[in-house]
Amino acid sequence: MTAIRIEQLTRTFGAVRAVDNISLGIAHGELFTLLGPSGCGKTTLLRMIAGFVEVESGSISFGDRRIDNLPAHRRDTGMVFQNYAIFPNHTVAENVAYGLKARKVPAADIKSRVDKALERVRLAGYGPRSPHQLSGGQLQRVAIARALVIEPAVLLFDEPLSNLDAQLRTEMRIEIRQLQQALGLTAIYVTHDQEEALAISDRIAVLRQGKVEQVDTPERIYRMPQTAFVAEFLGSTNMVPGVAKAFDGRNTQVAAAGTEFTVRGEIASPGAPVLLSLRPEALRLADGTDGPRVQARLALREFLGPVQRLHATLPDGTRIRVSALGGAAFDAVPGAPLVLAYDPAQIIAFPAP
Ligand SMILES: Nc1ncnc2c1ncn2[C@@H]1O[C@H](COP(=O)(O)OP(=O)(O)O)[C@@H](O)[C@H]1O
Ligand SMILES: [Mg+2]
Repeated sequence: MTAIRIEQLTRTFGAVRAVDNISLGIAHGELFTLLGPSGCGKTTLLRMIAGFVEVESGSISFGDRRIDNLPAHRRDTGMVFQNYAIFPNHTVAENVAYGLKARKVPAADIKSRVDKALERVRLAGYGPRSPHQLSGGQLQRVAIARALVIEPAVLLFDEPLSNLDAQLRTEMRIEIRQLQQALGLTAIYVTHDQEEALAISDRIAVLRQGKVEQVDTPERIYRMPQTAFVAEFLGSTNMVPGVAKAFDGRNTQVAAAGTEFTVRGEIASPGAPVLLSLRPEALRLADGTDGPRVQARLALREFLGPVQRLHATLPDGTRIRVSALGGAAFDAVPGAPLVLAYDPAQIIAFPAP
């Protein structure tokens, strides 16, 4: 059982607090993602867990064993890097065998373990090949096989798919997820790609400037962001500043963008400044059914296949994006009035900063 406990972990580089007093608990068998913009400390935190970056203060435990004082090769982790880190002048099999040789595994066992690891990543028979003969996706599978072959308790991934093209990325993330589930391994996965994080994870920690902003399931991170930063980072939401008005026992009216929005719950006291997060898919072209709505004007329409993205202007000129289903017949031209309907429960309000 490899649950991971990270307590009050800190690492600074000069004036930069790359990892700033982070505490996290990760369950056995969980795929746990560190998500955040470039420079927020994801790689530093992952490398502290792997043993490649020294811990300044705090502790890391696997199960009830503290591991932050062990050298990297004794931590029972396998790591997959963004750039594959494959030795180009060695065969695929030699690359995969690397960690076994370093651990002095008998030669007789090495071949069978390498074959098994290559089979797991669907590269059976590729052992004798040179890395030059492999595609980017295959190289990344070799890197995964090399991490798996040592049978680590914990798998660590640092942006493993960012060098691959978009289609391969979506295929490989499914393979990584299935492999991790089939082997029942605890995994920590670093990405700056919010869609990848939502697709692959059991839980996500959103990081910002070395600190944890929110830890939750993908659904809750997306639907119930606790901060404006999380709401903006996950998906492309519209952030509209406003001022809370009356609460009627069920909804709060908010004056914003030259109009009024109805938001579920008592979100703030009257007069308090708020920030509203309006997801593009939370707004729709009104179709005559009941419910709150706002007036807008079409600025621009992008046809994206499954959906259309409408760029609309609210009464005070604020631009927002609205997703509409692509199949819906829609022939409005720029400047045309739009009526946008929404469910008050889908609008999220934050205290204004
Ligand atoms: N070895 C280092 N020396 C100096 N600064 C570093 C070093 N490693 C990371 N940093 C700084 O720490 C911060 C976090 O970096 P990093 O962990 O690589 O972020 P991420 O992986 O989220 O992009 C950045 O400001 C980065 O410049
Ligand atoms: Mg990084």
